[in-house]
Amino acid sequence: MDVFEAIKTRRSIRRYRKEPIPEEVLLKVLEAGRWAPSAKNSQLWNFIVLKDEEIKRKIAEVFPSGRFLADAACGIAVVTDPKTSNHAVEDGAAAAQNMLLAAHALGLGACWLGVYGGVYEEKIKEILNVPKEKFLVSIISLGFPAETLTAKPRKSLEEILFVNRYGEK
Ligand SMILES: Cc1cc2nc3c(=O)[nH]c(=O)nc-3n(C[C@H](O)[C@H](O)[C@H](O)COP(=O)(O)O)c2cc1C
Repeated sequence: MDVFEAIKTRRSIRRYRKEPIPEEVLLKVLEAGRWAPSAKNSQLWNFIVLKDEEIKRKIAEVFPSGRFLADAACGIAVVTDPKTSNHAVEDGAAAAQNMLLAAHALGLGACWLGVYGGVYEEKIKEILNVPKEKFLVSIISLGFPAETLTAKPRKSLEEILFVNRYGEK
C-alpha cells in the first residue's frame, strides 16, 4: 500500500475481532512510531503497550469515548515529557499518526483515544503509573477490524486553503 492510499483509506476502527496481534506485526507498528519526526530529534517519548485485559477495561470504564478499548487486542499509550521538549504534544501526535497509518497498512484497525488535556487524563495516568508531569498525548486502540467504514467527508481544499496570507484566496 503506498502512502497516499494508506492516508486516504485509513479509518478510525472501533470494533475488533477477538484475535491477538502477532508480535512481529505489533513491533512494526511501534517501529513506525519510533521513526516519527520530533523537535530537535529529541525522541522524548515512551510507548506503553497495553495488553493486560484489566488495564484496558479500567481505562475503557473511565473514558466514555474509548469504551471500545476493552475489546481491542491491545492499546498503545503515547507519553511525552513537556519538561524536556517545547513540542511535547506535536512529537507525540506525530508518533501516534505514524502508528495509525502503519496499523492500517498492516491490515489492523486502530483508533485514537483523545485523552490528552481532557478531564480523564489524570485518572488514566494513574491507572498506567504515568508520572503527573508527563503528557499522555494519545492512546491508540488496536486490533483486527470487525467493521468496514466508508470515509467521513473531508472539507475541500478550496474551503481550507489560503495563499500567502491568512484569509487570502
Ligand atoms: C486528537 C484526536 C482525538 C480523538 N479522540 C477520539 C476518541 O476519544 N474516541 C473516538 O472514538 N475517536 C476519536 N478520534 C477519532 C476521530 O473521531 C476520527 O479520526 C474522525 O472522526 C475522522 O474519522 P476517520 O479517522 O475514520 O477518518 C480522535 C481523533 C483525533 C485526531
